[in-house]
Amino acid sequence: MRLEAVGLSRGLEYTDAELAQRSLDRSRLPRHIAIIMDGNGRWAQQKGLPRIEGHRRGVKSVRCVVEECSRLGLEQLTLYCFSNENWKRPRRELILLMALLKQYVIEERREIMRQGLKFRVIGKVEELDPIIQKEIRKTEEVSAGNNGMTLCLAVNYGARQEITEAVRRIAVLAAEGKIDPAEITEETVESSLMTAGMSDPDLVIRTASELRVSNFLLWQISYAELWVTDRHWPDFREPDLHTACRDFAARDRRFGGLSETK
Ligand code: IPE
Ligand code: IPE
Ligand code: MG
Repeated sequence: MRLEAVGLSRGLEYTDAELAQRSLDRSRLPRHIAIIMDGNGRWAQQKGLPRIEGHRRGVKSVRCVVEECSRLGLEQLTLYCFSNENWKRPRRELILLMALLKQYVIEERREIMRQGLKFRVIGKVEELDPIIQKEIRKTEEVSAGNNGMTLCLAVNYGARQEITEAVRRIAVLAAEGKIDPAEITEETVESSLMTAGMSDPDLVIRTASELRVSNFLLWQISYAELWVTDRHWPDFREPDLHTACRDFAARDRRFGGLSETK
């Protein structure tokens, strides 16, 4: 198959009537959802399976959720796949996780093009296996001209490391006299982050119950709505996503101000 930059996602999107059947209203949907996909290991342990089986099954959830977010007409979906701190895991699990990532990036290219997705990766990609780096870059390149949803994977990502790196870059510019420290604004910081040019998440979903953000997008989620479910990631499916979206629609986002109805 020739991989051309196309934008088929518009044809896949739900109509307003189809959204209404799911009790969803387009004007109240989040534009950008970020997901902390957690609980793969616990899902497997509960079933007496090795942890990696949970990761494997988690890929199926990724496929379902990516396609559903595309149908919902989201601007962006960001998935937390591997944190800077996840290197603390046993070597065997790391090898299998990296093999799964490589397989996903290669196998999913066709589907990314079919859905017209723009594929992006944030995180220290340069520290990954060169073959994975190459496959990531290839998928980013072939999908760059698509006009559907942005699918952003956070791989070897850590928000503190991202912010530290941004500070370092700005400091270099200041030291070289290219930027006046007095003129450093929020926009300066934002444009130095790995997410430069992306919108902030409106909704952060975390599966498997933990009430923490685990070094994910600390700057970008300042005003995101948080939604936590006890469902483990391998069991997370479209109806769970719809529930999260309906709960989001009912939230009163005040951004420090007062509610519009007050
Ligand atoms: C999330 O599942 C996937 C990654 C962090 C790579 P976990 O592997 O953290 O699963 P639990 O939290 O141990 O159940
Ligand atoms: C967060 O999950 C990272 C990813 C989902 C990739 P973890 O399982 O690593 O988080 P903690 O250790 O429970 O905080
Ligand atoms: Mg976990």
